[in-house]
Amino acid sequence: DAERAALVARIKRLLEEQDAVLIAHYYVDAEIQRLAEETGGYVSDSLDMARFGHEHPARTLVIAGVRFMGETAKILNPEKRVLMPTLEAECSLDLSCPAAEFVPFCDAHPDHTVVVYSNTSAEVKARADYVVTSSIAVKLVDHLRKQGKKILWAPDKHLGAYINSVTGADMLIWPGSCVVHDAFKADALAALKKERPGAAVLVHPESPAAVIALADAVGSTTQLIEAAKRLPNKEFIVATDSGIFYKMQQAAPEKTFLEAPTAGKGPSCMACAHCPWMAMNSLARVAVALETGANEIHVEEEIRRKALRATQRMLDFAK
Ligand code: 13P
Ligand code: SF4
Repeated sequence: DAERAALVARIKRLLEEQDAVLIAHYYVDAEIQRLAEETGGYVSDSLDMARFGHEHPARTLVIAGVRFMGETAKILNPEKRVLMPTLEAECSLDLSCPAAEFVPFCDAHPDHTVVVYSNTSAEVKARADYVVTSSIAVKLVDHLRKQGKKILWAPDKHLGAYINSVTGADMLIWPGSCVVHDAFKADALAALKKERPGAAVLVHPESPAAVIALADAVGSTTQLIEAAKRLPNKEFIVATDSGIFYKMQQAAPEKTFLEAPTAGKGPSCMACAHCPWMAMNSLARVAVALETGANEIHVEEEIRRKALRATQRMLDFAK
């Protein structure tokens, strides 16, 4: 409609005037993803959002996602201004692992290499030896296992258990979980699979082990979209945030995507699984952030420098 068109035009003008680029995660509103695509920005998983922001020459990065994504951008790009549509977009994994508890836990296990998921605060990253995202977690832990390292993993217990099952690494696992992925139900998924024998199952590894056990492909959001393109199936059941359907459908227009069942809801319920914090991002908030300079991400310099060490290792390992 006309109002939306005016809002989009306003954001496009602001992006240009302020030498800013919009970088969005697949879980945010499709309108924001579309705008990022239309304006030379980027839509991706958390690893590639970090890479893109790091390599892009713009002076301002507008990160549509949750706070750890904005902080990662700032850790890697201190000279750039990093804005977010809201600073209230948390992540249950980040919240489940406060630095005040995590740091003493690490100190109590000095013989362990500390590997943390990117879904953590800058303070937690500052205590880590390595940061990883779901796209490289298995590879990195396997690499460390081959060097005989014992791993302290935080904060996602399901991803930790999955990495452990694939690599056999010696791992201590922090007991955090994602509110969205933790809600996928294996029994209902198995029933849906029976109803749809031709469908392939795509699962993000933040899901419980019994859900992962039913998967035809397990991986980061980008890896799941690639699997949707690559696998010959015409129909897919997808266990991750429903925001991904926009890009998945775009990547494989001739295929059909069903949402995996979540707690309390029947098979094929659409729009069950959606991160409440990702949902806080809106076009209107993108405009306000650019107009007022509000919601700028700041990371205290000493924390940033320490967090950069482990975060840079992530980018170097992912090359
Ligand atoms: P990806 O790195 O796969 O995009 O995951 C980020 C996330 O928050 C998943 O819930
Ligand atoms: Fe965090 Fe889960 Fe939301 Fe991803 S979907 S940002 S892991 S709460």
